Amino acid sequence: MNIVELQNISKFYFSNSIVTQAIKNVNLLIDNGEFIIITGASGSGKTTLLYVASGLEKTTSGIVKLFDEPILGMSERTTAELRKSKIGFVFQFYNLLPNLTVYENVLLAAVIAGNKNEDKVKTALEIVSMWESKHKYPNELSGGMQQRVAIARAIVNNPLIIFADEPTGNLDSVNAVQILEIFKKLNKEFSTTIVLVTHNSDFLSYASRSVILKDGVIVHDEKIRI
Ligand SMILES: Nc1ncnc2c1ncn2[C@@H]1O[C@H](COP(=O)(O)OP(=O)(O)OP(=O)(O)O)[C@@H](O)[C@H]1O
Ligand SMILES: [Mg+2]
Repeated sequence: MNIVELQNISKFYFSNSIVTQAIKNVNLLIDNGEFIIITGASGSGKTTLLYVASGLEKTTSGIVKLFDEPILGMSERTTAELRKSKIGFVFQFYNLLPNLTVYENVLLAAVIAGNKNEDKVKTALEIVSMWESKHKYPNELSGGMQQRVAIARAIVNNPLIIFADEPTGNLDSVNAVQILEIFKKLNKEFSTTIVLVTHNSDFLSYASRSVILKDGVIVHDEKIRI
């Protein structure tokens, strides 16, 4: 199964009479089990590509398929369901809810997906080594720990794919490597497909495929290992 298929995608932004073409005629096939790292200069379209590929943003033209189905024909409700249960997101800023504990932050994602399963919350927190801190609040945690909780939240519903937009952008190198190791484990042990944007090309050693964007165009697309 193709997890994501982008066919001749273009994305324009229109703001204050300025038109920006963030993505230009991009084709991309993401297969089950890949670990793709996307790099490219600031403004090259990395975030836009993630948002379009995950159905968070509409394209201006072209076809986006998720799990072999074109999203154009899907109802809002179906795409929302997909985002809740089959797709996980991790962002640069962890976006945890400050008034909820670690445990409650992860449980909430399960509840929203209609899947209030406390065992899954425990498993997700154990995978990221945060079970011991389950009663803490986000402001009692380091940035690396908060990001680990954000990953637990992203995986609690067993998504087939995780999109991560500069998940280590705010972390020191030790914490950044811990986060990459978690993504590697998810990819290896649970076959979760990973699409991760980073500015750090040292992390390419974690990837099975390297995609480089320049001015909205894929200028490099290489399988690194099988
Ligand atoms: N909401 C928006 N409205 C108008 N222009 C936008 C919007 N979002 C992005 N852009 C423009 O689209 C282009 C691609 O932006 P995008 O955020 O995808 O780049 P990026 O590669 O993620 O950059 P960075 O590394 O800085 O995060 C840029 O020229 C940007 O200014
Ligand atoms: Mg970005």
